Amino acid sequence: MHLPPQIPPSDMGQLSGQDHGPDKEPVATDDFTDDFGVEPPLWEQWAARNAELPGGERLQKVLARIGWGSRRVCEDLIAAGRVTVNGEVAVLGRRVDPDRDLVEVDGGPVGVKPGLVHYLINKPFGVVTTAKDPQGRPTVMDVVPAEPRVFPVGRLDRDTGGLLILTNDGELANRLMHPRHGVDKEYLVEVEQGTVAPGGLRQLREGILLEDGLTAPAKVSQPDPGVLRITIHEGRNRQVRRMCEAIGHPVRRLVRTRIGPISDRNLAPGAWRELTLEERNQLIAAVGLASRAGSQNGSSASEVAVVSDSSDSDHGYDRAP
Ligand code: URA
Repeated sequence: MHLPPQIPPSDMGQLSGQDHGPDKEPVATDDFTDDFGVEPPLWEQWAARNAELPGGERLQKVLARIGWGSRRVCEDLIAAGRVTVNGEVAVLGRRVDPDRDLVEVDGGPVGVKPGLVHYLINKPFGVVTTAKDPQGRPTVMDVVPAEPRVFPVGRLDRDTGGLLILTNDGELANRLMHPRHGVDKEYLVEVEQGTVAPGGLRQLREGILLEDGLTAPAKVSQPDPGVLRITIHEGRNRQVRRMCEAIGHPVRRLVRTRIGPISDRNLAPGAWRELTLEERNQLIAAVGLASRAGSQNGSSASEVAVVSDSSDSDHGYDRAP
């Protein structure tokens, strides 16, 4: 029996999202001898031979590809009973269809499929959130690798800095951009006119009537005079700027510091990194994808593009232009 790794997923390294290649996949389906020539117990061999799916991809290969460690480590995870497929504890040798099966490790969904990437960037001021700018200004696409092609999840104004996710994971992007899922976004805001009086803070907290309707209650604190920390879950066009302007304190400087569970104080302006597996799973849970059996993964990059162009959002919400 293999011992389970005692390393939390977050420490298992960054994800490349790349396949390790077919050369590492054992050819024979019933070759269960490990690297030291030791055979696993008979019950494991029996279970593997009787694994439900004749086709599909080996579970340990799928897990290894998305960053849970080497094949051996992933086999240990499975052997330890920590992996379920569609709610049932997986046996060694189980094959899965990454497009259809819901794979979970320690009860957390493994919501990725080959080729999906999720980048976190710290958008510098002056950079446009668009896939292509007709005026030739620098865009967020210049910050991340050109391939595979990704799209910004939502939008930050040109003169707003801070955290932005770019991905080709259509399903996750759609959910993150939809106000129904209410993922919090936190902003650090420097306003004009100095200290905001208690009445202004109360207005922000209770909701402000803008031209496109009443804003949902915001979480607001004032860590320093004239500096606000504002958390909203809507994503209306220039919402924070308009809210602050409405209380007589136009925004001087605006930075997004958190998207749902994702924050990173160490990511410098203009830098990017891939989300860790733990962060991806947290995001997937935050938008309610975890409970959706039968489709653990995403839709295609083209679907992201379609939705980004859509005008059916409530207020032209936080969408890529
Ligand atoms: N609110 C704004 O006003 N601008 C942004 O870029 C993001 C939120």
